[in-house]
Amino acid sequence: MKKRDIFLTVILVVLCIAALTFAQPAGVRKKKPPRHEYGNVVMNNLAEKNKMAPVVYNHWLHRALYTCRLCHVDIGFAMEAGGTKATMDDNNNGLYCGACHNGKEAFAIEEKGVPGVAARKNCERCHSYGQKVAFEKDFYKFTKGFPMSRFGDKINWIKTEEAGLIKLKDYLEGISIKTKALNYSADTEIKSNITGMPDIIFSHKKHAIWNGCELCHPDIFGVKRGTTKYTMQDIFAGKYCGACHGKVSFSDLDCQECHVKNVN
Ligand code: HEC
Ligand code: HEC
Ligand code: HEC
Ligand code: HEC
Ligand code: HEC
Ligand code: HEC
Repeated sequence: MKKRDIFLTVILVVLCIAALTFAQPAGVRKKKPPRHEYGNVVMNNLAEKNKMAPVVYNHWLHRALYTCRLCHVDIGFAMEAGGTKATMDDNNNGLYCGACHNGKEAFAIEEKGVPGVAARKNCERCHSYGQKVAFEKDFYKFTKGFPMSRFGDKINWIKTEEAGLIKLKDYLEGISIKTKALNYSADTEIKSNITGMPDIIFSHKKHAIWNGCELCHPDIFGVKRGTTKYTMQDIFAGKYCGACHGKVSFSDLDCQECHVKNVN
């Protein structure tokens, strides 16, 4: 290791510790969820009011099968816990969860019995908060052998996708509209604006695989270079890059994943 690299590493470690403190307001120490709960969202706008257990939606399984874009653009789920005003009628009419949970793409809300196979209601598989449910898919079995990372669900999803261990569906018959994919694959260098802190390399190519373009433009980032002003504090607060990183994508505590470019 060169002297300068050692210096940078020390700075990074100090900043990480600082970040851990200022990312968590005094007294309210955020409890780190276990790996299999990272990215889980509890949906409860209506459920409990109607005497059903709240819905637990997991990202780890769904993101291993579909792009973020498919659900958050084509199907229209909000990028914010509780932001979608979905009802059970919507689901039964093929919207939201019901766009897939229809017995063809994924398990049905209610399975009609056929001779030899009993009818079955699958209510508790979605309305599972606080319930004891025997799920079909187990996080640890499902992700066994996936390349790992250090925080959050500890899966390196970029490498998992690149290795062909998962194949992401980006189109759903009857829901998605076939459009010509926009292509913009330049890497963008983002200055960290602080001496000694490595700059950030932002890869459009890698982001577009999952997010298309619409998840970021124009709502989160302007398309004109340098027009969007934000700081690391904003990211820790769940905005800009933090709209995904720290919630579903790899953790905002993994400084070196973003701050990769050595400063001269
Ligand atoms: C199968 C559908 C589906 C896929 C695929 C999907 N999401 Fe979601 N996402 C949801 C649902 C449902 C919610 C909860 C919305 C609500 O509560 O109203 C959600 C919520 C979120 C939230 C808000 C979480 C919070 O705690 O506030 C973020 C951020 C998010 N998704 C990012 C992503 C990213 C990034 C990807 C791709 C890696 C992705 N999603 C893939 C369905 C999906
Ligand atoms: C594929 C997932 C899924 C399945 C299966 C499912 N639900 Fe739901 N359900 C939801 C979601 C999502 C909501 C909206 C949650 C919220 O914001 O409170 C919801 C809401 C509800 C509500 C609240 C009132 C309303 O009309 O929206 C009731 C009642 C309900 N579900 C009953 C059921 C029953 C009964 C079954 C089984 C026959 C069932 N659900 C199966 C996902 C599911
Ligand atoms: C884009 C399609 C898609 C959407 C939208 C979707 N799912 Fe799924 N879901 C799947 C597939 C595919 C599976 C795995 C195959 C299966 O279990 O049928 C799955 C599995 C699940 C499981 C795992 C069940 C188990 O026993 O392991 C749960 C729970 C679940 N979904 C809940 C939801 C809820 C709640 C929503 C809406 C908020 C939702 N899903 C929206 C496609 C989808
Ligand atoms: C995950 C978020 C994200 C996604 C997805 C995304 N972008 Fe961007 N884009 C950015 C950021 C961040 C910048 C830099 C903005 C700045 O400097 O203020 C940017 C900048 C740009 C610029 C200006 C670049 C320059 O050098 O002047 C263009 C053009 C652009 N994006 C097009 C696209 C297209 C086309 C897609 C889909 C293929 C896409 N983006 C997907 C985040 C994203
Ligand atoms: C719309 C959601 C979203 C936003 C906003 C977003 N990302 Fe990502 N990013 C992803 C997803 C999805 C991945 C795939 C890996 C994962 O989920 O952990 C990813 C992966 C990455 C990677 C790893 C790529 C590689 O080269 O291996 C880096 C670095 C990264 N993001 C940096 C950023 C930065 C910097 C910003 C803000 C300028 C940003 N991201 C904004 C969703 C997002
Ligand atoms: C998801 C990507 C990402 C991760 C992870 C990340 N950063 Fe950043 N960071 C950025 C971006 C983008 C900027 C540039 C913001 C700007 O334009 O000033 C930045 C800027 C900074 C700055 C410059 C001052 C400021 O507030 O803007 C510091 C210091 C910093 N980050 C520290 C950290 C530390 C410490 C960690 C780990 C705990 C970390 N970052 C993790 C993306 C990231």
